[in-house]
Amino acid sequence: MDITNVMEYEALAKEKLPKMVYDYYASGSEDQWTLQENRNAFSRILFRPRILVDVSSIDTSTTVLGFKISMPIMVAPTAMQKMAHPEGECATARATSAAGTIMTLSSWATSSVEEVASTGPGIRFFQLYVFKDRNVVAQLVKRAEKAGFKAIVLTVDTPILGRREADIKNRFALPPHLTLKNFKGMDLGRIGKTDDSGLASYVAGQVDRSLNWKDVKWLQTITKLPILVKGVLTAEDARLSVEAGAAGIIVSNHGARQLDYVPATIMALEEVVKAAQGRVPVFLDGGVRRGTDVFKALALGASGVFIGRPVVYSLAVDGEAGVRKVLQMLHDEFELTMALSGCRSIKEITRNHITTPWDTSP
Ligand code: FNR
Repeated sequence: MDITNVMEYEALAKEKLPKMVYDYYASGSEDQWTLQENRNAFSRILFRPRILVDVSSIDTSTTVLGFKISMPIMVAPTAMQKMAHPEGECATARATSAAGTIMTLSSWATSSVEEVASTGPGIRFFQLYVFKDRNVVAQLVKRAEKAGFKAIVLTVDTPILGRREADIKNRFALPPHLTLKNFKGMDLGRIGKTDDSGLASYVAGQVDRSLNWKDVKWLQTITKLPILVKGVLTAEDARLSVEAGAAGIIVSNHGARQLDYVPATIMALEEVVKAAQGRVPVFLDGGVRRGTDVFKALALGASGVFIGRPVVYSLAVDGEAGVRKVLQMLHDEFELTMALSGCRSIKEITRNHITTPWDTSP
């Protein structure tokens, strides 16, 4: 297969997957304005490349929460990966550790934390949705810790599910041969058919919409793992995250699946970075499809990025090999961008290597 960039996997996945599954992966909420903007905003940021720098050796490696990884590109949590491929999250885990980077496993995975851990060594984070039943949450966090996960990624933008109209029309449900494996035996493992999106009904029934800053503190009483707050879009919430003891912040709009008409994450990034004042690392996800996107995020102060849909699409098309290829292509494009901008290491990437529409002219 002659795949030359990450975007090409989407069309191939669309051909291969049942409509209900493809639509679930692809959708944004309501008008999907933010969905388009997540991509478009990157195209408004341009380079200020430096020339005649000896780029015969380029080092893309970096450190995240003390873990050395091959590149500042990591895997975001995306739910229900066995709808894409029978090996699901386990294939993603193997591909991600082969690439030398970090995978985040969703609470709503179709493989359990133990199954993913058993695929072999690798640095993995666990994404947490806080359920109304706090015993369920405490048990799950303990199991993730025991399975060797290194951080909790607390998703804070989903007290209620965003309105994803395709899922409503399709009456989205988890195919009956699959379960949310982390909840097996707890009566929370199935997402059945309703007259709405089955997932929206599931969230309405199980997820705790009272979640607030006090709970971020509570979480620290039940785990020693560092907590990354995922879903921050403003300076105010960046400051509150730091005060609440977060070890890091992920600037995310949930792949444009929650509140529509929030800015593209690349537009919100710099405000959050400034508010964090270097006290915790700031990461970004949303619309990252090119090595140039990764570079732009780092130039605006991100310590790394996460990718969501490219992983599920490539998994659907070619399983573990597909995910490996996506991570390899992004790595190679990022390395090329560094060379052509005159940066030999991550720390050489600066704000002066890009120009944005909000910069004032000199
Ligand atoms: C997601 N996302 C997500 N986030 C989360 O915290 N828990 C989850 O279970 C999921 N599930 C999920 C499923 C699918 C199909 C998508 C597309 C997204 C959001 C995800 O972690 C990330 O924020 C976005 O996917 C990033 O945007 P891109 O890379 O998909 O544009």
